[in-house]
Amino acid sequence: MSTPLDTDFARDLVRGLKNHPRRLFPRYLYDDVGSALFEVITLLPEYLITRSETQLLRSSSAEIAAQLPSGCAVCELGGGRGAKAKFLLSGLAKRDRQVKYFPVDVSRWALDETVIGMEGIDDVVTTPICDTYLDGLVQVEERIDKRPLVVLFLGSNLGNFDLPQRDEFIARVSACLKTGDALLLGVDMVKPKALLHEAYDDPIGATAAFNKNILARINREFEANFDPRAYGHTAVWNENESRMELGLVSHRAQRVVIPCLGLDLDFEQGERIVTEYSYKFNPSDIDEVAKKGGFSVQGTWTHAEGRFSESLLIKTGVKTR
Ligand code: AVJ
Repeated sequence: MSTPLDTDFARDLVRGLKNHPRRLFPRYLYDDVGSALFEVITLLPEYLITRSETQLLRSSSAEIAAQLPSGCAVCELGGGRGAKAKFLLSGLAKRDRQVKYFPVDVSRWALDETVIGMEGIDDVVTTPICDTYLDGLVQVEERIDKRPLVVLFLGSNLGNFDLPQRDEFIARVSACLKTGDALLLGVDMVKPKALLHEAYDDPIGATAAFNKNILARINREFEANFDPRAYGHTAVWNENESRMELGLVSHRAQRVVIPCLGLDLDFEQGERIVTEYSYKFNPSDIDEVAKKGGFSVQGTWTHAEGRFSESLLIKTGVKTR
């Protein structure tokens, strides 16, 4: 398969791989192979995010659903197979006669799985949208008229953005919403470093495979010659920035060429490519996100061990659309 050169992916490869340190961006981890590998990660006992959030949503979704505007449509950004949204959607479907659910994801495989998973739930009409977060959200907005909208941004997906990107992203989501619309934000909380290392450098190497898949994907789509075996997975906790930093370190000096992009890259032994940041949150971070984005925090539900939290943000202020 070869990908057109006039794409975000092609541009981000040129920009990111020439950067110091070299960078690849998290959204490109999720081709169908990457999405399936991520689903494996969610099953690992060491990876607490999905397990904690699932428990939290199972026990709180009735309460959360009760606070959502009646007759609302639901849009989920980057929900993978949509397993967690189910709890809320079935709660909403009991109250409203029909719920329109728009899962937005960059993986077609994940969306197909979502549609299959929703088949058993009555009164939910699923319309998958294969796109990036904001382009997908704009498409949803165009399809729901004046109906209230609830955006689900779960799984600590927000943690992939660095701080300026986080503010910009939330502002853009907010600009797509009407007064009274909601954003349900699930974020992973700061926790002991040892737990984080286990979660991001798991004993069977599932996370390493997920991370290295991005190199294999670049080979598949751009006829590059990365040798994924010649890179090691790294996961480092950066206390000052409150984030896990995931990367791929070159085991040896090597040259990588991506002829169609005009890239000729010399890696030194030990040189790192940053593939992903995963920020961990404190309660005050959510207040800040809400304030900067023009939301008020309507409620927060926290996992029993304080590992994970779900916050319901309601758009305040003047109508923007
Ligand atoms: C889907 C971005 C929330 O940061 O924990 C898991 C991705 N990367 N293991 C995370 C991920 C490696 C995940 N997010």
